[in-house]
Amino acid sequence: MPNNVIVLGTQWGDEGKGKIADLLTGKASLVVRSQGGNNAGHTLVVGDKKIVVRLVPSGILHPTCTCLIGSGVVVNPDALFGEIEELKAAGVTDAEERIKVSAGCALLLPIHPAIDKGAEKKRGKNAIGTTGRGIGPCYEDKVARRGVRVGDLLHPEILKEKLAALMDYRNFLLKNYYNEPEISFDQVYGDLLSLAPRLTSMITDVSAELTKARAEGKKVLFEGAQGTFLDIDYGTYPYVTSSNTVAGGCCTGSGAGPLHMDYVLGIGKAYTTRVGGGPFPTELNDDIGEGIRKRGAEFGAVTGRPRRTGWFDAVAMRRAAAINSLSGLALMKLDVLDGMDEVKICTAYKLPDGTLTDLPPLAAYEYENVTPVYETLPGWKESTFGVTELDKLPVNARNYVKRLEEVSGVKVVILSTGPERNQTIYIEDPFA
Ligand code: GDP
Ligand code: IMO
Ligand code: MG
Repeated sequence: MPNNVIVLGTQWGDEGKGKIADLLTGKASLVVRSQGGNNAGHTLVVGDKKIVVRLVPSGILHPTCTCLIGSGVVVNPDALFGEIEELKAAGVTDAEERIKVSAGCALLLPIHPAIDKGAEKKRGKNAIGTTGRGIGPCYEDKVARRGVRVGDLLHPEILKEKLAALMDYRNFLLKNYYNEPEISFDQVYGDLLSLAPRLTSMITDVSAELTKARAEGKKVLFEGAQGTFLDIDYGTYPYVTSSNTVAGGCCTGSGAGPLHMDYVLGIGKAYTTRVGGGPFPTELNDDIGEGIRKRGAEFGAVTGRPRRTGWFDAVAMRRAAAINSLSGLALMKLDVLDGMDEVKICTAYKLPDGTLTDLPPLAAYEYENVTPVYETLPGWKESTFGVTELDKLPVNARNYVKRLEEVSGVKVVILSTGPERNQTIYIEDPFA
């Protein structure tokens, strides 16, 4: 029986990972985040309550689920505590006791958002459109081996030395390269010392917890953040985030071995969205795109920015299916396509010399030369909102899903017809 299930984004983020992770963690003992930080915004809807989690794993609403934050995640302590307070205010009073953090997590410091914003300003028209949360600069420091980690909070003298070196370098850049005000070392060090007892009391060996859970046959959900085409190595570089968002990142970021995983559930919308800059071949800059944005409430959960919208891209999905070893796809927001005369699926990209390519390129600039090739299908006028059985869907909606599976090469195992838990059609249970 599959006990270890990965849930990850197959597009450019915001696919609906939060809804599905929340649903599936009803059955799990543990949920673990492996990468990203508070650039993520995962929406959980239960009745009239809507909660957006950023750093906290989406299993937090289930009282028996322990929420782990693996070493691959960058942790901004203020953001984490802020979220815990929000959860407490929403009635999740035991949130703090159920969240465990790896000592290996990179600490996201106040200097990181400052550098992030300075770097975006410098990029000018080539700005990436980051969330401004300092995610990229924090990963830079980690990879450059000057990062400060959660475990360092247990050793004030080591912390002081590492922080001084990091801030010396970063403040030099802030002042002399970005022309921004410096950030006070004393202030940051003092703040870290005061929050240290609270954060260090949450430390656990995440990798060891996962090994133990596996031996005991417990169910574990690995929750991805962002999406496949925001991956640092396989996304539309440089318009990407700074971590490995693909399935492999769940292993490196949590400390679970590759053979630990039993099932990889890709999450994808029945259309496509993207926030921030970068290529988006199937983008719709017209009334159809605007209609999808309105009906789908496509505004960022973290920054409130309007999301760019477009048709479903099967070329991209084929790459996502291969890179992530997708076992199945949860197709989200089918209801948003209700009422359209026709719907389109991108099945290939056309190059300037007329040749067709069925896999996406790796660099953003290579996208400038591709034109999407579409297959057009009839739409449906009936509402699919809240439908819970496959055979209650309009025939054209079923045909759309079937064709999308054929051209993407991945089977749809869950269909989502609304933001709430019960607005879901189950075809296959990843944990069964
Ligand atoms: P995530 O980052 O992948 O967790 O996705 P977000 O939470 O950023 O964005 C997904 C949005 O779509 C949220 O507002 C969800 O409540 C909403 N949503 C999820 N599934 C459905 C669905 O099937 N239909 C509709 N209409 N909304 C959905
Ligand atoms: P969830 O987990 C959508 C995008 C930003 C920007 C790029 C780099 O909710 O799906 P960063 O701040 O990470 O350096 O920004 O990545 N981005 C997301 N887009 N959903 C997300 O997370 C995102 N996290 C980052 O908009 O284009
Ligand atoms: Mg989101």
